[in-house]
Amino acid sequence: AFTPRVFSGIQPSGGLTLGNYLGALKRFADSQNSGIQSIYCMVDLHAITVWQDPAKLTRATRELCAGFIASGIDPNKSILFNQSQVPEHAQLAWIFNCVARMGWMKRMTQWKDKAGKNQENASLGLFAYPALMAADILLYHATHVPVGEDQKQHLELTRDIAIKFNNDFGVEFFPITEPVIEGAATRVMSLRDGSKKMSKSDPSDMSRINMTDDADAIASKIRKARTDPDALPSEAKGLEERPEARNLVNIYAALSDQTVDQVLTDVGGKQFSEFKPMLSDLAVAKLSPISTEMARLMEAPDEIDAILRHGATQAREIAAPILAKTYEIVGM
Ligand code: ADP
Ligand code: NA
Repeated sequence: AFTPRVFSGIQPSGGLTLGNYLGALKRFADSQNSGIQSIYCMVDLHAITVWQDPAKLTRATRELCAGFIASGIDPNKSILFNQSQVPEHAQLAWIFNCVARMGWMKRMTQWKDKAGKNQENASLGLFAYPALMAADILLYHATHVPVGEDQKQHLELTRDIAIKFNNDFGVEFFPITEPVIEGAATRVMSLRDGSKKMSKSDPSDMSRINMTDDADAIASKIRKARTDPDALPSEAKGLEERPEARNLVNIYAALSDQTVDQVLTDVGGKQFSEFKPMLSDLAVAKLSPISTEMARLMEAPDEIDAILRHGATQAREIAAPILAKTYEIVGM
């Protein structure tokens, strides 16, 4: 009985990658005319779970907003806002901190990966991150969350929190949100190591394509990307044991809006020496208009700030009554 509504967020933690573009931004833009209300958030409260230089955080938040707009997300069709400007996120997160169980949080692989061996010294916020993410989503009664594979476990936790809240208070107040993980590039991998996801936090810049990379940088990173010596197969099955090859073909498929099998019909039998230049030409053709537009927007920070302020007002109109009702259910 919940009206379909989409929510998703990206951290302004500096630099957007091709993984963010294909796993998130491009998909948001592609689904824009579905008629479903969509809400997209720069999740700065999530970013500060690890140290962020204040001036860089401000800049990264604007750059992320520029990335959304340049990727084709129209602020007149979707709500674009910055998390910290809607205080209801932190308020609902506290309630969810009291619903979620320690054991649930300890099982999160992102927590284990990011805290590493030094858990004692990780921030409490990093541990509680998934409860804030649940608040982001449920504050809007969002029914669908388009994300990359890496967020699947957090989405399951969001569902667990909604179920436990509803059970504890004997209500059917929060929806059981569906993750939407689809397309050829739900998990874009590092160009240097086919077992790791492409990420802005990878210390090696050669491992990722940044949305702001110029044509030379893109071409050189793809040329140096790890591959194997074999030619490309003619069907997706032939990529099963070849993670690096599969990754490059997935990227090609996602950038060209084709399935992997469609791509392989054209490029099956080719060597990487021939395929890689095709891939870099495609990546440059798709990314360079976006990075040009991002650069233009970054020259107009007031324009970006105005969009985010307006988005925050729209977001609060939805969030405030849902938080008020939550407080009432809890007895506050
Ligand atoms: P990052 O992981 O780069 O720090 P976020 O955690 O802010 O970025 O993720 C923002 C969105 O981008 C999420 O939907 C996430 O699933 C998606 N995403 C991030 N990296 C990748 C990747 N390598 N492949 C596909 N999607 C990704
Ligand atoms: Na992530």
